[in-house]
Amino acid sequence: MRIGILNSGGDCPGLNAVIHGVVGAASKLGMEVIGFRDGFEGLLPPGDYVRLDPADTVGIMKLGGTILGTTNKSHFAAKVGSDDLKQIADKVVDLTKETMASLEIGALIVVGGDGSLGTALHLYHAGVPIIGVPKTIDNDLQATAMTFGFDSAVSCVVDALDRLHTTAVSHKRVMVVEVMGRSAGWIALWGGIAGGANVVLIPEIDFDLDKVAACIREREARGNHSTMIVVAEGARMPEGDLITKDECGNSIRLGGIGEVVAERIGTLTGKETRACTLGHLQRGGEPTSLDRILGARFGVKAVELAHQKKFGRMVSYQAYHVSSVTIEEAVHKTRTVEPDGEVVNTARAIGICLGD
Ligand code: F6P
Repeated sequence: MRIGILNSGGDCPGLNAVIHGVVGAASKLGMEVIGFRDGFEGLLPPGDYVRLDPADTVGIMKLGGTILGTTNKSHFAAKVGSDDLKQIADKVVDLTKETMASLEIGALIVVGGDGSLGTALHLYHAGVPIIGVPKTIDNDLQATAMTFGFDSAVSCVVDALDRLHTTAVSHKRVMVVEVMGRSAGWIALWGGIAGGANVVLIPEIDFDLDKVAACIREREARGNHSTMIVVAEGARMPEGDLITKDECGNSIRLGGIGEVVAERIGTLTGKETRACTLGHLQRGGEPTSLDRILGARFGVKAVELAHQKKFGRMVSYQAYHVSSVTIEEAVHKTRTVEPDGEVVNTARAIGICLGD
């Protein structure tokens, strides 16, 4: 059997490890691998692809990004000249079937986040032999206990906090670090705990900046003149606005939640406060060893599922074991931080203020 693989949606550390796992496992089973470039766009007939042999994947495990390239839905929509979701979905089915038939591909491995897995499910329902591999730095999929890329993103946050901590101490400042995670607080919570944050604000817990300010004052009273605050990009101010006033009293819109929190905390405490948004740094660079291993294991499992013709399934990590679930039961089910869960309790126990 010849199998195809594509990456879709935002990139994520560990994607190349998945490709490495897929190519290695396929070659052992005598299967050929075709890698489609730039996500679903690579399927546009006649196909933009490359044949991948084990020799082509030597040394790629440690590389960030993806050697195949990736694109998101809006890019694809522009390429096919439509923004009608139904039309786009039908177009994907037609061109996938056409290209897979012409290249004699018997299974397609889609490595993507929730949106791409939704497309994968649509393809499967239309009769395309699909295997899904979950991918997101946000770690917010219910159907897998962990996604590759998350550990690398958390490591980036920890590295940033270590660096920002020394400058915060030197200047006796409050540092507000905004991190990714979409509507889940996993990166903020894990990064904040591991990086020694004093305050962590996440979407799952309603926070009150007066309480955060009180925590900063208490720290001052104990002789700690700097404070590290981590805020998840999905966290929202109780009043829900991103507006403040400039020195002339004009309303101005601030950037992200990090800047809003920094501005308010500066006003409430009178302390010098700075905001730093880590942004796409969290998705770049080399994957951690955990993400390399998880990615490779996911790739190997995906080939095993294709070989067994267990289509419509998605690789999943459960209880230290890589298994699979149906894509149907995996899509559009997010896993957010449990406000009373064990990780939040750990944060509280080691003295982190959650702002509630
Ligand atoms: O889902 C991964 C993620 O990095 C989110 O944490 C973030 O909100 C989003 O993607 C950013 O996407 P883009 O690459 O389109 O800016």
